[in-house]
Amino acid sequence: MLVVGPSSEKLGQKISKILRVEPVRLIHKTFPDGESYFRVTDKVGGHVVLVQGTHPPQDRHLVQTVLLCQGLRDLGADRLTVVMPYLAYARQDKTFLEGEVVSLKVVINLLRSSGVERVITVNPHSPWALQDGLISFKIVDAVPRVCEYLKHLIERPAIVLSPGKKGEAMAREAASVLDVESSHVKSFRDPERGDVRVEIGVGDLRGYTVLLIDDLISTGGTMIRLIEAVRSMGARRVIAACVHGLFVGGADSKVFRAGADMILSTDTVDTPYSKVSVAEPIADLLAYLR
Ligand code: R5P
Repeated sequence: MLVVGPSSEKLGQKISKILRVEPVRLIHKTFPDGESYFRVTDKVGGHVVLVQGTHPPQDRHLVQTVLLCQGLRDLGADRLTVVMPYLAYARQDKTFLEGEVVSLKVVINLLRSSGVERVITVNPHSPWALQDGLISFKIVDAVPRVCEYLKHLIERPAIVLSPGKKGEAMAREAASVLDVESSHVKSFRDPERGDVRVEIGVGDLRGYTVLLIDDLISTGGTMIRLIEAVRSMGARRVIAACVHGLFVGGADSKVFRAGADMILSTDTVDTPYSKVSVAEPIADLLAYLR
């Protein structure tokens, strides 16, 4: 049984079409004070899959998830899987400064205590932190799809650059789909101020199309630093691609102003740049789940 939550309406409908499963009927209202109300008007039982991302406003979407999960369990769901295309709080997967709350751990505990057994998510920020066994996580990698989309839009010579801890593998993966060069970028974020600094290991990019790819564009800070750096190295065309486009506080306009020719994201979060859909790989995974 498929339940499409309010935060992932479009993606949920796409998944339902691919799987040819009519979603469970759900009434959702918001009370005048902002609280969510849900009523499930179909009978529920067996394995229930809820599609509900926790992109911004993440606290609201998270509470809706918990309400729905506990509710579905109470109504008869024997097993509960949540498709959470964007997993909130995954960036606070450890203590960076003394005294910090490890939010990801709290979120996992919350989901578990709401009856969730399994989460399907897309390119989470910290895959290594999802293996504590409390919930089984299945991860969809959207990078090959993003690159397939770009295959005919990238002119040679071209290079893929990707920042951060996962950047090296992501850049290599993207470059192999596109059959172009790749390089890793070191990125450093000040844990208190949040400022980002990047170090790119290539010198001259004159004449190059540069694909900058990251799992996430949130404030755009990282992407903007990258764009400025590659433009100063002579890049001819710059594509800013990501899996999750949060574009907080007009980050998309800032990314364009910094010199991107194109922004591309998937539909884990529905934005004007969501040209690549993750519905198919998620549906493929669901089709084989028991
Ligand atoms: C960091 O590890 C991520 O891969 C992103 O680079 C980062 O979270 C993006 O955030 P922002 O857009 O705020 O720089």
